[in-house]
Amino acid sequence: MYSQVSSGCGVEAAVIGGDVRLTTGDSTIDIPAIWLRDNAPDADSRDVLSGQRLFDIVDLPADIRVAEATVADGRLRVRFSPDDHQTSFPLHALLGDADRMAILDLRSERAKRLWIDARDAAALEPIAWESYLRAPAPALRQVVEWGFALLHGVPAAAGQVTAVADTFGYVRETNYGRVFDVRVEPNPVNLAFTGLAITPHTDNPYREPVPTLQLLLCLHNAAEGGDSGLVDGFAAAAALRRTYRAAFDVLTSTPVAYRYEGDGTRLGAMVPLIGLDAEQRIREIRFNNRSMAVPLADPDRVRAFYTAYRAFAELLYAPAARLNFRLDAGDCLIFDNTRALHARTAFAAAGGRHLQGAYADLDGLTSTLRRLEEHAR
Ligand code: FE2
Repeated sequence: MYSQVSSGCGVEAAVIGGDVRLTTGDSTIDIPAIWLRDNAPDADSRDVLSGQRLFDIVDLPADIRVAEATVADGRLRVRFSPDDHQTSFPLHALLGDADRMAILDLRSERAKRLWIDARDAAALEPIAWESYLRAPAPALRQVVEWGFALLHGVPAAAGQVTAVADTFGYVRETNYGRVFDVRVEPNPVNLAFTGLAITPHTDNPYREPVPTLQLLLCLHNAAEGGDSGLVDGFAAAAALRRTYRAAFDVLTSTPVAYRYEGDGTRLGAMVPLIGLDAEQRIREIRFNNRSMAVPLADPDRVRAFYTAYRAFAELLYAPAARLNFRLDAGDCLIFDNTRALHARTAFAAAGGRHLQGAYADLDGLTSTLRRLEEHAR
């Protein structure tokens, strides 16, 4: 079965059935010929400047095989048949492929530090605006791992919240505008624009794609009440999976309707409360009691949904799960709107509480973070 064995750098390569087996110490990695041919890094296969692939899958022979594989100087050299193409790979790239793929996923629970107990997150200090501007990476890393960061000392000026977003990415403009004001309004189109208490929720679940980041900058807060809260929705979902698997399965597999209609806008989306990735990891929470509707379907499924929804809500609304703080002028909260649920206590309209918010997206933030962290290495 082995057509040849070549070794070097503590790694042995063998061609087995037209594919390659790498053996290093006591671990082996089997690499199909088609994968090697498709990922060939040579100049005939990839554009030298962009690194982008120059051929398509249908350009490759369907019966591609490895004819020869050798290890030397830290590289795996491969000759294919029937096209006789030759290429070589750095061994570290092949052996570290799983790690390199994992760091591309900063959205799912595997990239997160979950906090079902708010005291864990309470230890995180607010970050001064000036020090953030000098070195943004720690705050951005905190948003990725913990779901939020709190900046203080940001200029408490109208429009400034977009300048905060500009430091790492791009504002997502919506029907609420480029920025939105969270204060008591005479004819509110959203309960956010009243003095009512708002239970933990994610914003804009009726939007597809959903805004993945939210920024809230406090311009002033002299109100009695109006304190803010954050809850880790991933941690609550993971707890539900651990303690009440049937409920978790219902919430990950039942699409619910989210709807917003107002000021000439008609938005809608149908997705589950808890979104999983292709490997069943928790990846996105949409939770908003104000705009969610369960489709009228089989009564047993509807009842099962409500039981599961209640169980999840009880975890999310548990006082111990909620990180409480008060936003004062110049405080800017940046949080992952696919994970961290936000809330506020009621406040008196007379007191004057004015936050200015903006939406943005995680792709810009994670791009900036990767660039800064690469630069620091
Ligand atoms: Fe909100």
